Amino acid sequence: MDLNEIRKNFFEEIGKAKDLKEIEEIRIKYLGRQKGELMRILRSLKDLPIEKRREIGSQANALRKDIEQALNEKLKQLQTTNYKLQTNLDITRPGLKPKTGHLHPLTKIEQEIRQIFISMNFSVVEGPEIENEYYNFDALNIPKNHPARDVWDTFWIKSPSKSEKFLLRTHTSPVQVRYMEKHQPPFQIIAPGKVFRYEATDASHETNFYQIEGLMVGENISLANFKFIIEQFFKKFFQGKKIDFRFRPSYFPFVEPGVEVDIKIEKAKNQSSWLEVMGAGMVHPNVFKAVGYNPYEVTGFAFGVGLERLAMIKYGIPDIRLFHSGDLRFIRQF
Ligand code: DAH
Repeated sequence: MDLNEIRKNFFEEIGKAKDLKEIEEIRIKYLGRQKGELMRILRSLKDLPIEKRREIGSQANALRKDIEQALNEKLKQLQTTNYKLQTNLDITRPGLKPKTGHLHPLTKIEQEIRQIFISMNFSVVEGPEIENEYYNFDALNIPKNHPARDVWDTFWIKSPSKSEKFLLRTHTSPVQVRYMEKHQPPFQIIAPGKVFRYEATDASHETNFYQIEGLMVGENISLANFKFIIEQFFKKFFQGKKIDFRFRPSYFPFVEPGVEVDIKIEKAKNQSSWLEVMGAGMVHPNVFKAVGYNPYEVTGFAFGVGLERLAMIKYGIPDIRLFHSGDLRFIRQF
C-alpha cells in the first residue's frame, strides 16, 4: 500500500470499528512497530534518494498524526457511548445524602450548659485532669487518713517526685482551689471536665465521666443565691418543663452545710419521682483558708453535677455506658 491507500483504508476501517478490540487491531495494523503499514513506509525511507525521502517522509508523518488523532477520537467516542449503555444512569434520581459527622451528645450537653451559665454571667474555666494530692484532697478539707478519702476510688499514678503524689482527678472540685489561688472575689465560675474513678462499672457508674463544677464567691453569698441560680439553670436546661426542687442535707468535706439537690420533672399523669442531680453547699472555711481568703469576709456556694446524669435524664438514656460505647446506632440519634 502507498500512503494514499493507507489513508483510505485506515479511515474506512476505523469508521466501522465497533469496540476497543477492533480499534486496537487497527492500531497495530497501521502503526504497529513490527508490521504496521505506516511503519513499513517510514522504515523504508532510508533507502530513498534524499528528495523523495523529504517528500514522502513529511507526508507519512502527517498521516501518522491523523491516524493517531482518529484512533483517539474513536476511543473516546466509544467510551462515552459504552458508558451510557452500561450504567443505565438516571440523572433525575435524588442523590445519596453524604454522611457527615456531628457532635457527641455529651459535647452538645456541655455546650448547652456552658451557654446557660454564661448567660447568667458565669465564666468558664478549666483545670488539669492529672492532679496532685493537694488539690484533689488536702486543699478541699480532706486531709490524709480522713475517712472521706474513701468516698473517691482513686487512680493513683506513678509520680516522678517523692514529695508529690499524682492521680487522675476524682472530681472537678480541685479547679475551685486552683481558681481561687489566682483570683480575688467576687466571681462566679463553672469548670467542666473529665473525672476518673477506680470503680466497677454498671448502668449508672463509669470509670471515666464528666462533671461540671460551679463556684460563686463574694460578700454575703448565701444558699438562697444558690437556690435561685440553680433553679434558673434547670428551668432553662429542661426547657419550660415544670420542675420541683428539693434540698436534702448531705456531707461533702469541702462545704458546710452540704446539700444534695433533687428535682422532680412533671411528666404525664403524675408519674414523676425525685431524681438526685447534684451535690452542693456553702464553701467550707478551711477551703477559703487554704487559698488565703478570710472566711469572715467572704462566703460562697459550690456545686458539682454529673454531665452524663443530666444527659440521661434529659434524653431518657437508660445506661451510662452507652456514651462511650462507640455504637453508632446510639450516637446517630442525637
Ligand atoms: N465533688 C463532688 C463529687 O464528685 C461533688 C460536689 C459536691 C461538688 C458538693 C461540690 C459540692 O462543689 O459543693 O462527688
